[in-house]
Amino acid sequence: MYPEYMLESIKRLKATRKERMEQKFPMRTPKQKEELLKGFHPDYIASSMRTLKVGPNKGDKTPHELANLLEAYPVLDLSKLDLSRPDRDVDVLIIGGGGAGASAALVAHKAGANVLVVTKLRIGDANTRMAQGGIQAADKQNDSPVRHYLDVMGGGHFKNVPELVRALVLDAPGVVAWLEELGVMFDKEPDGTMITIHGGGTSRKRMHAARDYTGAEIMRVLQDELLNRDIPRVEFAGATELLTDGNGGVSGAVLVNLETGEKLVVRAKTTILATGGCGRLHIQGFPCTNHYGATADGLVLAYRAGAKLAFMDTIQYHPTGVAYPEQIVGLLVTEKVRSIGAHLVNLQGNRFIYELESRDITASAIIRECKERNNGVQTPTGRFGVWLDTPLIEILKGAGTVKKSLPAMHHQFERFGIIMDKEPILTYPTQHYQNGGILINDRAETGLRNLYAAGEVAGGIHGRNRLMGNSLLGILVFGRRAGNTAAKAAKAIKQKPKIGLGHIEPFVAELKKAKIPEGRKSPMLLPDYRRPEMRRPYAFLTQ
Ligand code: FUM
Repeated sequence: MYPEYMLESIKRLKATRKERMEQKFPMRTPKQKEELLKGFHPDYIASSMRTLKVGPNKGDKTPHELANLLEAYPVLDLSKLDLSRPDRDVDVLIIGGGGAGASAALVAHKAGANVLVVTKLRIGDANTRMAQGGIQAADKQNDSPVRHYLDVMGGGHFKNVPELVRALVLDAPGVVAWLEELGVMFDKEPDGTMITIHGGGTSRKRMHAARDYTGAEIMRVLQDELLNRDIPRVEFAGATELLTDGNGGVSGAVLVNLETGEKLVVRAKTTILATGGCGRLHIQGFPCTNHYGATADGLVLAYRAGAKLAFMDTIQYHPTGVAYPEQIVGLLVTEKVRSIGAHLVNLQGNRFIYELESRDITASAIIRECKERNNGVQTPTGRFGVWLDTPLIEILKGAGTVKKSLPAMHHQFERFGIIMDKEPILTYPTQHYQNGGILINDRAETGLRNLYAAGEVAGGIHGRNRLMGNSLLGILVFGRRAGNTAAKAAKAIKQKPKIGLGHIEPFVAELKKAKIPEGRKSPMLLPDYRRPEMRRPYAFLTQ
């Protein structure tokens, strides 16, 4: 239910609908796009970033929130750790239980490796489950991986690492076929043809979806598969440090039981980081679409051990996070809503941007509309947003389309008395994705021997801006590649590797030299939303 004063603007939106439907809204020119980005994208606020003084990316810029974790001291007192008798010995240790971790585990296990999946929450508690709109794959007659490649590169401002994009688009059709074989129920026409739609920046309709809960559907199947194959796993165990072999290689991790504080030392021939992104850092105070566990912990572990990160100065703000009601602010309103016809409309009832520009452009246009042009709709708590004209979908695609195509979204708003097939919804950009991450190659290898990365923690694939539907795809393409490479590498390692924490001392020395305050600790395993006066150390810190 909207407060009385917002109804005026909704009236204007309804009054312009017919005219808007006939309007052809042009895409921005390259020059206009650049102006929008430079003027309004949060990445371009110079004061929001700082230059790293420590570690492999010394000299590079990154948001303060991330820099504070990368340039920080170990959260555990490592002097108390006994590394002489590891608790577990495995071929492949996978840190993270989302889509990347699960797909890596399935492939490595099938290749005959002795696998262990560890996760700080439960298997499947991850951003994968929260993905809504779909997964891209060029598997239709009018499309090709080459077209997909060009779209990905264009979306990323041609900064993407070409070999990673190549791997992404070439594996895509096989990944969708694999998911189908495992049991993912994609949307189909009555004759069995896959339904595919556009996303922002796609030149062909190649988004495959399961309504508006594609990620949940994919994770359901991967998680079942993991359980059915009885792949060993440990839940509620957060990784706080990687182990190294003293010779440039990674050889496992130190984990901590988040309930009891007990430590678990896992020696591994190969290690895969699949820990996800950094949404819960709330960069520049933005709300986020992310899962509770998205705290940049994998980046911290890898960085400390010496892995290079890429594109850490670019964060994706999804154009349409919920701006009202307050209880769900920041949650995702899938791009699919725009893809199937909803217009972005300002306070005055006017369109101001072509809805399927790539995300950084659309988000910048919304910010400009609200901040510079005073054309945002103010909420009772003082936020601003623009309308998504969702009833228009019913007019364009037929009555019942919203409920059929966006059932989860419909339900989410209905709980607050907003019926989105009858009234518009209010949206504003929200932190959604880290465009960069640990630099990998097309075998998911990092710069450190026997350390692999997949999913959002890995960087280079999307350049400076990811397109919709390439996140679920990237998770699975590089999850599977990481599983395969790590299993093969482990097979070739005949002896149990040495384990140690030799990388920590020089890193700490660098921190001290750079005068980083000693109270700054990381990784952060879970965000702390308690009021400052209520904060106490978590159990795992006190054991
Ligand atoms: O809008 C969305 O459904 C988000 C998809 C994505 O980030 O890939």
